[in-house]
Amino acid sequence: MGDAERARATALGDLPERLRQLLVHNTKEGYSWLLNRHYCYVAPALGTYPYQWFWDACFHVIMFARLGEYELARRNLRSLFEMQEDNGFVGHMIYWKRALPHYIADITQSRPSLRAVRPHMSALIQPPVAAQALLALFESCGDRVFLGELYAKIRRYHEWLARSRDFDGDGLLSIISPFESGMDWKPSYDVVLGHEPRITPPRMNSSSLYWNVMAVDASNFLCGYDLSRIRRRQRFIVKDAGFNAIYARDLQAMETLARVIGDDPEPFARRRAKVAQAMMEVLYDRDAEAFLDVQEPGSRKIPVLTPTIFFPLAVDLIPQEVAVAVAARHLRPGGPFDVPWPLPSVSVHDPAFHRGETLFLWRGPTWSLVNWFLYKAFKARGMPLLADNLRASLLGLVARSGFREYYDPVSGEGLGARKFTWSGLLVDM
Ligand code: GLC
Repeated sequence: MGDAERARATALGDLPERLRQLLVHNTKEGYSWLLNRHYCYVAPALGTYPYQWFWDACFHVIMFARLGEYELARRNLRSLFEMQEDNGFVGHMIYWKRALPHYIADITQSRPSLRAVRPHMSALIQPPVAAQALLALFESCGDRVFLGELYAKIRRYHEWLARSRDFDGDGLLSIISPFESGMDWKPSYDVVLGHEPRITPPRMNSSSLYWNVMAVDASNFLCGYDLSRIRRRQRFIVKDAGFNAIYARDLQAMETLARVIGDDPEPFARRRAKVAQAMMEVLYDRDAEAFLDVQEPGSRKIPVLTPTIFFPLAVDLIPQEVAVAVAARHLRPGGPFDVPWPLPSVSVHDPAFHRGETLFLWRGPTWSLVNWFLYKAFKARGMPLLADNLRASLLGLVARSGFREYYDPVSGEGLGARKFTWSGLLVDM
């Protein structure tokens, strides 16, 4: 990044105000007569992403908390858990008000139902950030009443995760569709999907990548989202390094919240220790010096370098010498992630790397979520230069290109949806 860009970046003093306006602009609230419920959430981008998404909602809560907008933070988090099922489950998308689905994926990502009016929540999950969001809010405003209300729900959600998604009992959670990672078309999944060679196709519908992903969701749908049947089919079962690192951070947030509230933190601490141990045994590749995504059954490591190879560094139980090795090897000058505007969403040496706009997301451009998550990880690890570089990159991108869904890692051009909220995570950095 040049000096001029850097100067503009540090001059972004009006960021909180611009973010507040954006979040208010994208807010949707009302009463759903179909469901008999009130809702209030922020659409990630009004045109492209009008629904309520799980991890997006948590990011918005964190942003509102840091902006001092506590009531909006509370309403957003409450709305996310409004549709929680009795067993604790919350789907990754909630379609408040929609009587009919929009895309074919909206059907296959929901549980089959004979009701004329379709179910309004997807049957997929997204990376668990809810406890981290509640903790950020509690730290900002100290509201114990709200803490009590939401803690119970998030606890039930965590019980569901541990009970339902730790398929083989090693502590790591499995995802059953690429969309569950929140990084929809991440190139690591290509090999699981049978999309070889691993290139980014020019068009959506004509590519095997697209149809193979649709087939995974369709197959899950035909299993009625019954997890034991899905496991038996073995179509797409992945232990994702990013997903599990976020999970471990959420378990740590649960430990903290449990202590505040007077609940027992031990179950969460035990689960977190197990996740960290399995990360070292199952995900860490000593030759590659990277935490890789793993295909199940058979625990096959997928040798594709994406930023999630660094995500487990956010888990303090991962040994420091491992963290140092991973960072030194892959973040060196001239290394696979060395671009003017880091971090690219896949190694620039990967055949899938595509820095421009495409509907196949997460195959090259820089996404603010990655910078936000790794900024904290590197800070906590005592790697402030790496952390500050990610923050400066994101600040520069917002100064140059505004609030966009993702950015060209070489030119810094803003790409994808406009008035997209995620770069607002800067207020938490
Ligand atoms: C895209 C992203 C996903 C996000 C959603 C809404 O599908 O890949 O992570 O939740 O958009 O912003």
